[in-house]
Amino acid sequence: MPRLRVLSFSVSLDGFGAGPRQDLEHPLGVNGPELMEWFFQTRVWQKTHGQPGGETGIDNGIAEHAFDGIGAWILGRNMFGPIRGPWPDDKWKGWWGDEPPYHTPVFVLTHHARPPLRMAGGTEFRFVTEGIHAALEQAKAAAGKLDVRLGGGVSVVRQYLRAGLIDDLHLAMRPILLGAGENLFEGIDLRALGYECVESVAGERATHVTLRKRS
Ligand SMILES: NC(=O)c1ccc[n+]([C@@H]2O[C@H](COP(=O)([O-])OP(=O)(O)OC[C@H]3O[C@@H](n4cnc5c(N)ncnc54)[C@H](OP(=O)(O)O)[C@@H]3O)[C@@H](O)[C@H]2O)c1
Repeated sequence: MPRLRVLSFSVSLDGFGAGPRQDLEHPLGVNGPELMEWFFQTRVWQKTHGQPGGETGIDNGIAEHAFDGIGAWILGRNMFGPIRGPWPDDKWKGWWGDEPPYHTPVFVLTHHARPPLRMAGGTEFRFVTEGIHAALEQAKAAAGKLDVRLGGGVSVVRQYLRAGLIDDLHLAMRPILLGAGENLFEGIDLRALGYECVESVAGERATHVTLRKRS
């Protein structure tokens, strides 16, 4: 059975997965990039951005495997881009340029229908307006024997958690305070939902915590 997995999801000590006031200049919200500092320094990140060097170590090792065994992705519409409300046209094609890093079908949850968008390198964005269960069903069918990765943002991870549909959740806990933004844990009782911490590894810039749903 394909699993639904959240991997390398960065969270501040006070529980935020994005800063406030997301827009074109602040895809992660104001101060949001501080969440990703553990990733930006890795060799994996540098390599995907055509840069030499980057750190090797625990954070890099974890980032290196975050795409392994994934056959489809689910994203929320705010992670796909800064446009809110009805699409004015089909010009926005995501933050990632002509060849996004997914290389699989990517199911984007939205209330605003849009035709599928085929990109270079095998990524196809498919816009799902029928809700989280429909997106998961479609993603699992597309993934075949592989797993589905729930890439975020915060609101969709919260919804899948509440529905008890996430099998495992790897959080990169950053030793920073954001104070405001999108809080991953707001209104979520992970213990009551059946999650337990099965691993905690101290990396160079984040502590990597894995939560798993008890079967
Ligand atoms: N910390 C990390 O590792 C990490 C990872 C990924 C993303 N992020 C950040 O998280 C932020 C985005 O998170 P977010 O919580 O603002 O938004 P999000 O979860 O990306 O998207 C929320 C939007 O998706 C659509 N949507 C969500 N659930 C839906 C449903 N059940 N049915 C239909 N449409 C649905 C709605 O858009 P419409 O109603 O407008 O269609 C909703 O406003 C960004 O800043 C991103 O960079 C952080």
